[in-house]
Amino acid sequence: MRAIRQHEFGGPEVLVHEEVPWPVPGPGEVLVRVRAVGVNFADTHTRENKYVQKAHLPLVPGQEVVGVRADTGERVVALTKGGGAYAEWAVVPEERCVPLPDGLDDDQALGLLVQGLTAWHLHRTCGRLEGGETVVVHSAAGGTGSLAVQLAKPMGAGRVIATASSAEKRQLALDLGADVAVEPDAEGLTERLVEANGGRGVDVVVDMAGGPGFDASLRALAPFGRIVVCGIASKEQNEVRTGHLLRHSRSVVGFWLFHTLDDPERRFRAPLADLFARAVRGEVRVVVGGRWPLEQAAEAHRALVERRTTGKLVLDVADA
Ligand SMILES: NC(=O)c1ccc[n+]([C@@H]2O[C@H](COP(=O)([O-])OP(=O)(O)OC[C@H]3O[C@@H](n4cnc5c(N)ncnc54)[C@H](OP(=O)(O)O)[C@@H]3O)[C@@H](O)[C@H]2O)c1
Repeated sequence: MRAIRQHEFGGPEVLVHEEVPWPVPGPGEVLVRVRAVGVNFADTHTRENKYVQKAHLPLVPGQEVVGVRADTGERVVALTKGGGAYAEWAVVPEERCVPLPDGLDDDQALGLLVQGLTAWHLHRTCGRLEGGETVVVHSAAGGTGSLAVQLAKPMGAGRVIATASSAEKRQLALDLGADVAVEPDAEGLTERLVEANGGRGVDVVVDMAGGPGFDASLRALAPFGRIVVCGIASKEQNEVRTGHLLRHSRSVVGFWLFHTLDDPERRFRAPLADLFARAVRGEVRVVVGGRWPLEQAAEAHRALVERRTTGKLVLDVADA
């Protein structure tokens, strides 16, 4: 079958389209005929072997597919285990394979899996959003951010402040329901966030970039405010002093999607079912911001790391 494979770690050029052996499902696994693959920022970290989970070469990248289960013929969306998604066929653990309801198209399902579930848990499980609170969503025009903006008010927020790096991205965040959108540069960010909240500290910050913007966001939190860290797109990690946290009654919370699989019914399937229902009702919409044929995966990666994209990025897999 055809797949994207990398034989070395490095830039987008290491993503090579080639013929690879068919994957063979083991016990508890199923084979999925892939129709489309979701590109996630994590794939760019894995490409350089800088992801949370270390990778081994050669590897077929990717964590997220939508397609058809070979054994039952059901339409499914599925999370792979340790890669294998950028391919015509993928093997996935059965417990990570979720049938799609009628009325939910492939793109919507793909966008809700990694990025939708992440946005859901950022607000509910980690941000512990309470009624009427103010939420700041960084990278608000991206795949995860665009869903976090849309879910914030239905999940309890009173005010949503978005950040994004271009006027076009900020307009998208406003169109998706943010009350105000500001620039993400760390210089003056604390003041911009507080001003955007009527002069008061904010309650929850969803941070995906890290670096100086994280420190500036932490300083914008009201007492009992929470900053949820789910990504380090800037590749700059931060350190936090416990004295600062107790002096201001602030919390820093981490999130990694794969921990939802420790309690799959409660943390994976139920939130995903909730997201699917919201999408079918039209309450949340996956914005597809770019699509490429599978063989052009490197182009998708380039666009993503150069901050040229908005919304969900999709690789289409042609019929074999
Ligand atoms: N912890 C988890 O389980 C989990 C799950 C899903 C996603 N994530 C994380 O959430 C973040 C968003 O992921 P995504 O797949 O939805 O991607 P994305 O938001 O579609 O794209 C990445 C966004 O990060 C922002 N960014 C800030 N600094 C950047 C930099 N130095 N280089 C490139 N982009 C930068 C850009 O927004 P602006 O240009 O507007 O600033 C860009 O739109 C990533 O950090 C990812 O690792 C984590």
